[in-house]
Amino acid sequence: MCGIVGYIGKRQAYPVLVKGLHRLEYRGYDSAGVALISESGSLNVYKSQGKVSDLEDTAQNRDLTGCIGIAHTRWATHGEPGFLNAHPHLSQSGRLAIVHNGIIENYAALREMLLDHGYTFRSETDTEVVVQLIEYLQEKDGLPFVDSVQRALQMVEGSYAVAVLDIRRPDTIVAARKGSPLVVGAGDDEFFLGSDASPIVGYTDRVIYLDDEDMVVLRQGTDITLMSIRGERKTPQIRRVTMDVSQLEKGGYDHFMLKEICEQPQSLRSCLQSVRQTLTGPDAEHVFSLLEQADRVIITACGTSWHAGLVAKYAIERMARVPVEVDYASEFRYRQPVINPGDVVIAVSQSGETADTLAAIGMARKQGAKVLSVCNVIGSSIPRSSDVVVYTMAGPEIGVASTKAFTAQAATLTMLAIVWGHRRGTVSGQDYDSLMSEMDTLPELVGRVLDRKDDVRAMAQTLSFAPSCLYIGRGCNYPVALEGALKLKEISYIHAEGYPAAEMKHGPIALISQDMPVVTVATESAIYDKLVSNVQEIRARQGRVMAVVTEGDTEVARMADRCVAVPQVTECLSPILNIVPLQLLSYYVACLKGCDVDQPRNLAKSVTVE
Ligand code: M6R
Repeated sequence: MCGIVGYIGKRQAYPVLVKGLHRLEYRGYDSAGVALISESGSLNVYKSQGKVSDLEDTAQNRDLTGCIGIAHTRWATHGEPGFLNAHPHLSQSGRLAIVHNGIIENYAALREMLLDHGYTFRSETDTEVVVQLIEYLQEKDGLPFVDSVQRALQMVEGSYAVAVLDIRRPDTIVAARKGSPLVVGAGDDEFFLGSDASPIVGYTDRVIYLDDEDMVVLRQGTDITLMSIRGERKTPQIRRVTMDVSQLEKGGYDHFMLKEICEQPQSLRSCLQSVRQTLTGPDAEHVFSLLEQADRVIITACGTSWHAGLVAKYAIERMARVPVEVDYASEFRYRQPVINPGDVVIAVSQSGETADTLAAIGMARKQGAKVLSVCNVIGSSIPRSSDVVVYTMAGPEIGVASTKAFTAQAATLTMLAIVWGHRRGTVSGQDYDSLMSEMDTLPELVGRVLDRKDDVRAMAQTLSFAPSCLYIGRGCNYPVALEGALKLKEISYIHAEGYPAAEMKHGPIALISQDMPVVTVATESAIYDKLVSNVQEIRARQGRVMAVVTEGDTEVARMADRCVAVPQVTECLSPILNIVPLQLLSYYVACLKGCDVDQPRNLAKSVTVE
């Protein structure tokens, strides 16, 4: 949550910062701001409530000169999302400016201490405390800029990625991280900062992923100085980042979400190729030497990634015959789970930065479990805190509603189940060959589902008037029902719940009426007949049914008000196809309702605070 950008070099900083903020806007869009040390030596701060485009309007016709600056796009934690709480925050004298992503847990005590020393506060944020503390340390102890930031960071508790400017040092940015991500880009005589690499690509492909408690001093015209916040010098590890800049643009689509739904044939192809290489190539032993110690797998994740984890439970138990538990990371980390030496934890995350998932794996590792992460963002915190990583390689996902990341996670984990089952002898050679070749056909089959947009649009017309909606499915399509419901509620604000279809009789069927459409995932499966009965029970109560069915289906299709047909595949692969019409459905409903699809209210893509 919150995105940070920084620049120091020979270019004008403002255009670099604003472009970077646009790329990080998926992390929060409650307010945005920029601080520049101008050519005349003044520290100019412009901020605005709302989106980066609002900031651009505010900053128009102001002094935007300067080759050094920091910027921020906010998802509010402390204090409402108004102008006063927008970053950058200034110190009492106005000499220092800071941007921050994270939560300072001991801010109340530090604030009290600073109030006692005559400091006053303009905002309700925890961040303002940090910049005031830096100034206090400069004034009280005469500490120079770098030392004062370092000392302040030793005093704060919590999580942060920060970047700080000091008007008296117009050639320097000091930045640091603990628990929130920060990446440095190293160009020729210029440096960039970003919460991820997206504001940096296009300028340089040389990046340094800061580790927790790293602090970096970026000085114009010199090298980077990297140290820990305790002052130990470190050697920066420069990595090459390969990101196609066009993936960060909408490419002619109205929204990133639609673009990302439509690019699933390509993202799945890239995912399947890479994952097959990881699981069956020379590196496979890293993965399986860890998994093959497992008596039990615990999958931990949040949101959409948790749903992909639930798909994996069905696949791993069915194919590898290893017991699997799936736990929300936010619950797992606090419920004192029993972790045995034979447990392997699989963490699933698109961003690799979700605070609860990161904390859950930290806790599990402390208790002796090994951790394998399934992640999309290379070099992010979760893979770096895991024993082994399998990257999903779906490409950058910008839309807040996760789409292509889900299909890539489900495909990755299903392939892992197939390969693991084959190695354990619970999947025969013949089944292995046929499942692996069927997986290769998924990109093309997803393309065929995408051709059914008109059928989905027709369903969307009905749903857009519904105040509430149920999603049902069975077996490995129960998680698809959950994910379909999440997609609808997060971008169209229509209340939706997912249920295992057979659970309807245990309560939710009481809700059925003309006003409560039921979206049913009813593709072919071992228990298709049972699902047909569940649909009949809904129809018998005048419920309206929207169904995802297998091509050629007549039974459910006959009962449903509206249908969209998907190609037939083996049941364990069906979630990867069946979710696609539900993604499109939520997209079209949100558009019909005039909702902000890519930036739904109250949300941010990357939940880096708990
Ligand atoms: O980056 P992660 O996969 O760890 O994110 C987890 C959830 O925050 C995320 O999946 C969220 O639920 C999606 N925005 C839903 O579309």
